[in-house]
Amino acid sequence: MNHDSAKKIFDDSSNHWARDEPKLLSDWTARPFLLDWCLPVEGKRILDLGCGEGYFTRQLSRKGAARVHGVDISSGMIDAARVNEAQTPLGIDYAVGCATDLSALEGENFDLITAVFVYNYLKIDQMRQSMSQIFAHLNKGGKFVFSLPHPVNPFISGSDSRFHFERSGGWFSGRDNIFEGTIALKEGEPVAVRCIHKTFEDVFSALRDAGFEKFPEMKELSVTEEHIARDESFFGPLEDLPLHIAIRVER
Ligand SMILES: C[S@@+](CC[C@H](N)C(=O)[O-])C[C@H]1O[C@@H](n2cnc3c(N)ncnc32)[C@H](O)[C@@H]1O
Repeated sequence: MNHDSAKKIFDDSSNHWARDEPKLLSDWTARPFLLDWCLPVEGKRILDLGCGEGYFTRQLSRKGAARVHGVDISSGMIDAARVNEAQTPLGIDYAVGCATDLSALEGENFDLITAVFVYNYLKIDQMRQSMSQIFAHLNKGGKFVFSLPHPVNPFISGSDSRFHFERSGGWFSGRDNIFEGTIALKEGEPVAVRCIHKTFEDVFSALRDAGFEKFPEMKELSVTEEHIARDESFFGPLEDLPLHIAIRVER
């Protein structure tokens, strides 16, 4: 599979994603946790892969990073990120590029590399290729932080359409199959998302084979009591459902 279909999805939908305030479910249920996991970033050099229109990238920059570079396959998303940067300059530079080919960054190393909900658009081999390159571009002691839709989510019956993927195959037989899904916006129609199914073994063996030897931390994310107290009608139906996984590993 080449990367054209992910590129097209995001070229066509960059206006749904452009935001500076939380808008998508995962802006509450995943990104705040991921940002905390990246801290402290003062003085660090950061690469945000699959940065989209830069919502998370800007948050990293505002926390005091020395250099933040965002890369995304979708020129529509990068255009939107650059418009935001021109309006409110943070010193972030953005480039169109693919997470599987970091050759444009030859000779550059980073203290932190992030990939927030990107590998769900890549096949297993593409994710493996990307992780090998990430390992090569991380400084010793640098961190790699990424998130995925929880792989079990499509296998839970009675899931809620606020965040759900339709499986097209079993846990093993469905590996590398595209599971189409939706994610809710707090205001407005849900946005189409997709998950190319991977097992936990696929993810952890890709990290190990990329060269990561330290024990990776994993957090399974869902709605919390605080989310439900904030807005029961939006978050309440998702209580107890596995939504996302976050992984942090040190080189
Ligand atoms: C769900 S969006 C997340 C965007 C951003 N990380 C965020 O958290 O707001 C997934 C992004 O991954 C990008 N993407 C998909 N495949 C990619 C690839 N092979 N290389 C780089 N970016 C890719 C898409 O264009 C899209 O912007």
